[in-house]
This record gives sequence, C-alpha cells and structure tokens, in this order.
Amino acid sequence: MYYDKSETTTICASEKGASSMSTMDLKTAQAAAEKLYLEGHSLQPEKVIDMILTHTAHNYSLLTRDPVIRAEGCWLYTKSGRRIFDGVSAYSAANLGHNHPLVVSMIKLFLNHQSPPVLGRFLPDPFVAMLGAKITDMTGYDSFLPTNGGVEAPEAAIKLARRWGHRVKKVTGTPEIIYFTECFHGRTLTVTQMLGDEVCVGGFEPFTPGFIRIPFGDIDELKKAVNENTIAILIEPIQGEGGINIPPEGYLPDLHKLAKNENLLVIYDEVQTGWGRTGKLFAWEHDGIDCRPDILCVGKSLSGGFSPVAGILADNELMELFDPGSHGSTFGGCPISSAIALASLHAIEMEDLPGQSAEKGAYLMERINEIASQSNYINEVRGMGMMIGIELKKDGPDGHAIAERLYEEGMICKDTHEWVLRFTPPLVTDMTDLNYALGIMAKVFTGKI
Ligand SMILES: Cc1ncc(COP(=O)(O)O)c(C=O)c1O
Repeated sequence: MYYDKSETTTICASEKGASSMSTMDLKTAQAAAEKLYLEGHSLQPEKVIDMILTHTAHNYSLLTRDPVIRAEGCWLYTKSGRRIFDGVSAYSAANLGHNHPLVVSMIKLFLNHQSPPVLGRFLPDPFVAMLGAKITDMTGYDSFLPTNGGVEAPEAAIKLARRWGHRVKKVTGTPEIIYFTECFHGRTLTVTQMLGDEVCVGGFEPFTPGFIRIPFGDIDELKKAVNENTIAILIEPIQGEGGINIPPEGYLPDLHKLAKNENLLVIYDEVQTGWGRTGKLFAWEHDGIDCRPDILCVGKSLSGGFSPVAGILADNELMELFDPGSHGSTFGGCPISSAIALASLHAIEMEDLPGQSAEKGAYLMERINEIASQSNYINEVRGMGMMIGIELKKDGPDGHAIAERLYEEGMICKDTHEWVLRFTPPLVTDMTDLNYALGIMAKVFTGKI
C-alpha cells in the first residue's frame, strides 16, 4: 500500500465538507461537475466542431467531423456510434492502449486517497521519488529529469549539452549541435528550425544559433560537419514524423565511434521510438551497448496516455551539471503525473511491451508486405517492431487521400510527409483486432481509390 489508511480517513473526513479547502460544499461541487460533464456528452457533433473552429486555434486540420467520445484498448468510439480501430495510438502515446487498467486504477486510488497537491519540485513527494527509482532501474541511467510534453525533453537535452560544452569540453566559439534532415523534435522555437517544411518553419524566424543540419544516414556528411565547436549530435534512431526512416545498417554504431573520437555527446530522441515501440525497450538497444546514448529523451507512453509526462535520462556526471535553479518546470514531476508515470512503467514492464511489439511487428510486416505485393499504390513497407511506415507511389493517391479512405472503412492510419502512412497501433492490440485492421488495409490498398 502506498498510502497510510489512518491518514486516508482524516483526508476523507475533511472532504465530506468540514474542510477549509474551499467555501464550496461537496454536493454543490459534485452537481456543478456533473452538469458540465453531461453538457459535454450531450453536445451535438456539429456544435462540437463549430465550437472547436470558433474558439480554438486552427493549427490542426480535422480528419473527421464525428467527435470521439470514448476509447478502450485499440478502439475509439465516436458520437455517431462508430467503432474505429486506432492505428496511430496518439503518435505512440497510447502504446498501452486507451485506458490501461493499471494506470486507471492508480489514478482512481490517487484521487480517492491522496488529495493530490501541486507542489513544485522544491517540496519532496514520494511519487516523484518512486518514479525516479523505477525509471532509472528500468533504463540503467543514474538520473531522471522529469518534464511535461515531449518537446521539453530535447530542449532540456540541448541545455545540458550546452552546459557540458561550455564547462567541460570548454569550447570557445558558439557551441554547435548537429541534427538531421527529416527529423522531428517538437514545436518549441529552438527545435522548430529543425523541421525542413516551410509550413512548419516559415515566419517563425529568427532562430537560436548553433545548430547544423546534415543529411540523415550519411556518415561522411557527419564527419565533415564536425569542428572544434561541435558539442553534440541530436538524432532519432528511427525517424517517426519524417516518415519512419531507418538509417542504413552500421550508421548508428559509426556515429557513436565518431562521437567518442571527437568528444561529442550523443543525444537520442526516443520520445516516439521508446517504451517498446520498435521491439526493444529503446531503439538504441538494437545496436548494442556501445550505442547507448549519453542523453536519452523519453515521453509519450510514459504518460500511459493520460497526462503529459516526459523527460531526459543521463548519468550523474552529466546530469549534475543541472544544479538548483538552472532548469525546472512547475508541473514537470508533479505528484499526479509522477504517480501516472510510475503506473505506466509498471504496466509497460508487466505487459512486456517490447516483446509484444517484436512478435506482432514481425507478423504485421509480413502481412503488410503481402498486401503491398497486390497493391498498385504502395512503393515500400519499412519498420521495426510495431512502428511501420507504408510509403506510397507518387503517381497515385497521396497519404491524406488514403488516410480518409481507411477512416471511411473504420480505422485511423495517419499520413506523414504526404507520401508515407504511419501504422503504429497500441502495442497491446491482440491478433484478432490486428487482423481486423489488416483486412481494412487489404480492402483499401487493393481496391480503387
Ligand atoms: C521524436 C519526437 N520528439 C519530440 C516530440 C514532441 O513531443 P510532444 O508533442 O509531446 O511535445 C515528438 C512528437 O511527436 C517526437 O516524435
């Protein structure tokens, strides 16, 4: 038990209304919450879309006008009564499937018994302590720095690398970090410049200096880019948003050798590839221990799909360059997020997500290749574990058109970079449900679009 039952009794008594926590009595609060909840559930689809378009920024285009109101495992349920297979898993945030029972149980326990505080990290909390112990035990790093959304992980990694560059490597010029074409590290200003696409980059200049872009997968270009001010290489071991791009055999080991010889830090952004997605706990493990990155960025399903939780892992020698006051965040590592992440890590381990992903991924690759051999639209199928990209022929319908057809038939599969469809279902999806999705893919890819 994580909580003291005697304390719980006191907390529950105070919640019954004798509390100084607010002037609102519990009945009034519950009635107000119920009213809001029912209002949300009874909104008609047209109204939901109208309100989204009227009151929220238009930085996403909607795949459907039928709101999703419930989810379970690999299934999404819409307002109109449709059941849709989730082949995206919120970009791998739902590797555990929607509403994993262990994570849900933790949230319920936490809310029922813990009266979760928002503390700020200057006050000690048992759940961030347990999260730190568990995540370092699972990954083999000394230390974890919790953040909120995934983009804060590469941001923190860049700050840490710069500190190391100034204070340990002692570069005298502007410290340089090498990154790659087709990469994706999120949307804050520093990493936005790394997106090649004008839609993502245009109009947001000027950008932070000190970043050098080179082609992904070309070791000679990497060698050429290194100079006396280079401090780090920032890379996704498999590019997700860029189109499920897998580097050539031997590239990552060569990159690590070069980094060692040139005294550079290697930062892996495994926000998307982590937690079993590629058939190992982390994608770096496919290349062996010599390819263990100095800084590992994690996120997505660390949250169990519930609240933004991400962070970086490193050994003490490096992480201790962050001293009190040098980095932080109000909600990063807050008690409820830490409890959720702790539950997610246990679920990832107990469900053996890497093992499931390796086994079912091999089956999926075989079956999707069979579909490709009978389709006029597919150029190549590539992937690792359950991270699969379907590259389309450029003389046929583009990714968006096919994503729409797949949705009509009952599954979500999202286009990325126009000509690639990303198929990344929850890793817990069983064979019956995977075969259902494969059936839809076969129908769409071998039919007329
Ligand atoms: C590799 C990688 N890094 C960082 C991010 C940013 O994560 P978030 O959207 O949670 O900020 C993403 C998001 O897709 C990602 O794929």
